[in-house]
Amino acid sequence: MELVLTEWLSAILRWLHVIAGIAWIGSSFYFIHLDLSLKARPGLPAGVKGDEWQVHGGGFYHMMKYLVAPAQMPDSLTWFKWEAYTTWLSGFSLLVVVYYLGADIFLIDKSVLDLTAAQAAGIAFGSLVTSWLVYEALCRSPLGRHEVALALVGYVYLVALTYGFTHVFSGLGAFTQIGALIGTIMVANVFVIIIPYQKKTVEAMIAGKVPDAKWGALGKQRSVHNNYLTLPVVFLMLSNHYPLLFATRYNWLIVAIVLLIGPVIRHFFNSRHEHKGSPWWTWAVAAAGMAAIAWLSAAGPAAVTTGALPPPPKFKLVSDIVSSRCSMCHAAEPVWEGIPTAPKGILLDTDEQIRVHARLIEIFAVRSQAMPPGNITEMTPQERLVLASWIAAGKPAK
Ligand code: HEC
Repeated sequence: MELVLTEWLSAILRWLHVIAGIAWIGSSFYFIHLDLSLKARPGLPAGVKGDEWQVHGGGFYHMMKYLVAPAQMPDSLTWFKWEAYTTWLSGFSLLVVVYYLGADIFLIDKSVLDLTAAQAAGIAFGSLVTSWLVYEALCRSPLGRHEVALALVGYVYLVALTYGFTHVFSGLGAFTQIGALIGTIMVANVFVIIIPYQKKTVEAMIAGKVPDAKWGALGKQRSVHNNYLTLPVVFLMLSNHYPLLFATRYNWLIVAIVLLIGPVIRHFFNSRHEHKGSPWWTWAVAAAGMAAIAWLSAAGPAAVTTGALPPPPKFKLVSDIVSSRCSMCHAAEPVWEGIPTAPKGILLDTDEQIRVHARLIEIFAVRSQAMPPGNITEMTPQERLVLASWIAAGKPAK
């Protein structure tokens, strides 16, 4: 019963997380676009940076941005914050339900580091908090005043964290951890900087004082960071569907490239929206990056260090390997504790099923080491090579 409950809890949380994320990213892309497209012209009210006409859903909108604040507070203000908070709250709950409670399968790979579930969850949560604190310290240090230097240091910092995580957790765990970490930094930017400073501005105005222009500038800086981090974080969150990304030898380098091409693609759109032309070179960089990712992802599992294949095996050997490493979970009645039904409906407990799923076996256990999860049933590199040889020989049925 408990299994069924966590299964449904995870489904509902995922649904909420994706919806909240769409609302958050949607509104933040919208405002970035609006902010960049505002045009200054004579005749605008005092304190207005620029205005812009928009058409949507059968009506016309006349948008204006007051640089610090309007001369008088409006009666009602719409705040944009619960999209971000809900995304984090649902995402963090999902992290606990799936990755911390299911650490044995989803977070730990004992061939990477022999951790208990409690240790793995502790390290994951601890590093989430400390990495955010380090980011906050970097932004507040003198480095924070130099955008390009801060971006470079931030980039190296995230790549170093990724490299570290791939040496502590399973590939899947590492990708989710770095994605969750960037997401946490982004939401913390809203919660700790952007909204509090906006509140200070509003309070100052209600008290009849002139708000400090610095407050808005601080919020703006963090909002720019969030803008550039959005594409990588969404890529990382979707990457768990692609074992060639997270469960191959150069998984950390793949993340390093994604952290580069995400911001480059954003730059293309930011530049266009600001009417500063279309930097088409960004797509060349993105395409080269994607090609590099595809190439790196073909390097195979980290554990398999030789590309030399053994002679093609008899099917009996293939079937023995899959039965002893996979079918305790992927069976009509799994015997693995905590696995109530065959995961994703994939059965690997008969010769016929093994033949039918040869393609999936190739992607999940030969070209990557996504399965067995965290190599929990200790499949050896030799066994993966035997399966590779069987596949290379055209998957003979005998
Ligand atoms: C300890 C239990 C366990 C073992 C052993 C195991 N798997 Fe899995 N398998 C899972 C779980 C859990 C999932 C679902 C993963 C998820 O939700 O992301 C899964 C998913 C899969 C999928 C579908 C993935 C998808 O997203 O479509 C394939 C294919 C697969 N396993 C193949 C294998 C192969 C091949 C082996 C043996 C080399 C194996 N599994 C061993 C638990 C196991």
